Amino acid sequence: MKHIITMTVNGDPCSIAVDPWRTLNEVLREDLGLTGTKLGCGEGDCGACTVLVEGRSVSSCLTLAVAVDGKDITTIEGLALSGEELHPIQEAFIEKGAIQCGFCTSGMELSALNLLTKNPSPDEKEIRTAISGNLCRCTGYYNIVDAIGAAAEKMKKTNDNN
Ligand code: FES
Ligand code: FES
Repeated sequence: MKHIITMTVNGDPCSIAVDPWRTLNEVLREDLGLTGTKLGCGEGDCGACTVLVEGRSVSSCLTLAVAVDGKDITTIEGLALSGEELHPIQEAFIEKGAIQCGFCTSGMELSALNLLTKNPSPDEKEIRTAISGNLCRCTGYYNIVDAIGAAAEKMKKTNDNN
């Protein structure tokens, strides 16, 4: 029997009927069309499916949709500040060449947001720890770590100007 769940996704409230065994990843990608959230291993190992639930990063492949009833979800589609303006994390990833195939990027950027929201000035070790659950096959991580450091600086400047 389906359950009606209500959640806020990227600021938009939605109610949806879901089978109790379906994952948040399936509901985001298949029902809501938010395919920026990727599905890699499906077993909690790669981090490609990372989204924020109440501001905390979770593996959407291991999270049942019914478990997020009433919660606030952020996916990569909700990261940009507007349709025309990228988030500082996205800008930094582009500027530092931290994207190759891009399959890990959504999860990496949301893990970065999770870190920088709690710790605006992380050192390299803290950045590496924060993305330790996100695997990247392409970049060797150096540019990603560099980008997250640059994003921290950008976000501090943005906050100072507000
Ligand atoms: S797809 Fe969820 S951790 Fe790999
Ligand atoms: S850029 Fe290809 S997996 Fe990270």
